[in-house]
Amino acid sequence: MALTTQQLMQYKRQERLIVALTAWDYAIAKVLDAAGVDLILVGDSLAGVLGYETTVPVTLNEIVHHAKAVRRGVNRALLVVDLPFLTYQASQEQAMYSAGRVLKETGAQAVKLEGGYPAMAETVARLVQAGIPVMGHVGLTPQSIHQFGLRQQGKSLETGEQILAEAIALEAAGAFAIVLEHIPDQLALQITQKLTIPTIGIGAGPHCDGQVLVTADLLGLSERQPPFAKIYVNLREIITQAVQNFGVEVREGKFPEDKSGGDN
Ligand code: KIV
Repeated sequence: MALTTQQLMQYKRQERLIVALTAWDYAIAKVLDAAGVDLILVGDSLAGVLGYETTVPVTLNEIVHHAKAVRRGVNRALLVVDLPFLTYQASQEQAMYSAGRVLKETGAQAVKLEGGYPAMAETVARLVQAGIPVMGHVGLTPQSIHQFGLRQQGKSLETGEQILAEAIALEAAGAFAIVLEHIPDQLALQITQKLTIPTIGIGAGPHCDGQVLVTADLLGLSERQPPFAKIYVNLREIITQAVQNFGVEVREGKFPEDKSGGDN
């Protein structure tokens, strides 16, 4: 049975930590789902897989295309899809169209969007009223890279209070969960204690209700890792070795093996 947004909220009440990862295709999604990941996000970190420098160029068509493939690999996890930059900020109508497209065309259960400033909280409320579950995302918001960079957010009292206020506004607007990215541990703790919906941290310390990583980082496939990422396996090295072994065997005529016994 597929996990629901309500079950995820129940996890927080049960103090059961939520495991979340990103996915970009069918094969990866199937592995993550079978390994027991609770929430699979088709994030706009898809940018890395597509060879973009930032998340800004990712389009709605691209994320929909990848989310459809991921959907086919997911049975149990809750599937959430990012709304890419400028597919929801322009107006509530634009957000409704983009989020509706994601749900209708990909079969995902929810969308994620960045920011909790007043106009965005209103947009979230409108989406939720229309039956579209929304996961918020505050702190470091990579779609605003050209405004804030990729540094840790919420370090001063003032910016910390602003992020807390955004998280509260998103909960009031009906978000079912919030990603807290690259903020101080104590701020994440404060937000997690204040909210009744789960917080999912990435570079936000150990006090969140769950953790998410970009799967390409966890697998050692990303060209650049953020400082808070942990590489659990270095697939870049393992793949390079395997490909080199294949190259050597082909060039030396060892692959494929000659099974004909000499007479073709
Ligand atoms: O796009 C993404 O992968 C994300 C995660 C960093 C949470 O938003």
